[in-house]
Amino acid sequence: MQNPQKIKTLLDKYSQPIPRYTSYPTAPYFSDQVTAATFKDSLNNLPDGQNLSLYFHIPYCDTLCWFCGCHTKITQKYQPIAKYLVALKAEITTIATIIKQNPTAHPVSHIHFGGGSPTILSPDDFTGLMHHIKSSFTLAKNAEIAVEIDPRDIQDDMLHALADSGINRISVGVQDFDPEVQKAINRIQTFKETKHVIDKLAKLGVNNVNIDIIYGLPKQDVTKILDTAQKSISLGVDRIALFGYAHVPWMKN
Ligand SMILES: C[S@@+](CC[C@H](N)C(=O)[O-])C[C@H]1O[C@@H](n2cnc3c(N)ncnc32)[C@H](O)[C@@H]1O
Ligand code: SF4
Repeated sequence: MQNPQKIKTLLDKYSQPIPRYTSYPTAPYFSDQVTAATFKDSLNNLPDGQNLSLYFHIPYCDTLCWFCGCHTKITQKYQPIAKYLVALKAEITTIATIIKQNPTAHPVSHIHFGGGSPTILSPDDFTGLMHHIKSSFTLAKNAEIAVEIDPRDIQDDMLHALADSGINRISVGVQDFDPEVQKAINRIQTFKETKHVIDKLAKLGVNNVNIDIIYGLPKQDVTKILDTAQKSISLGVDRIALFGYAHVPWMKN
């Protein structure tokens, strides 16, 4: 028999609203006190041999999931994405040039593509972006290269582009497999299409897999969340990231 007092203590401890740990420092610690000069200075003063972790944000999606709290814009056109990519590549060149002024090598041990949906990029553009990163920085031998994947409507040529670019870890957005929940959050995503993406990438050698699930969505109950977790486990994933729904409607105003 579980100790009710212990459960209450745990619930009180873990049911606090806290920032999602998607950046370091987390969003509440962002400040305009940190200027471009501060950033440049810290890049110039990296400790000798310090490895780098690089994060690339692709802030675009083709439809809006109604729960979404991520920094993204909805677009049906590719032109804003192509324009953003030009700016992103210029930023990569700027940062790499500053780091290269420091004579001690700084190998990149982690790369993460997040969003939004990085898989909204065309296969050629993703390959080109990766090429630009690899020619701007020195990658460590066993660098972890991860991408967030929206499995809806992703084509096999994109899956090949990801694998050929050296991606070795994927994080797949699921949220909930129940059709009623999916309708309520404006995100229709079948188990079959999710499985296809994971299986296909595994065949291409990418088999380190995370799945994102959210609890607290409309029309959910414990049974549905457990069912989503079971289905996710059946896909052979290494990790499940279980997010508590953050109600942040102002993010989409
Ligand atoms: C950038 S998305 C993942 C990639 C892709 N855009 C997708 O949705 O499949 C990051 C993850 O953040 C989580 N997330 C987004 N909005 C959230 C919210 N309001 N509360 C909790 N988690 C949220 C979702 O689990 C989502 O998969
Ligand atoms: S959850 Fe993912 S796909 Fe949905 S709107 Fe947010 S970033 Fe885009």
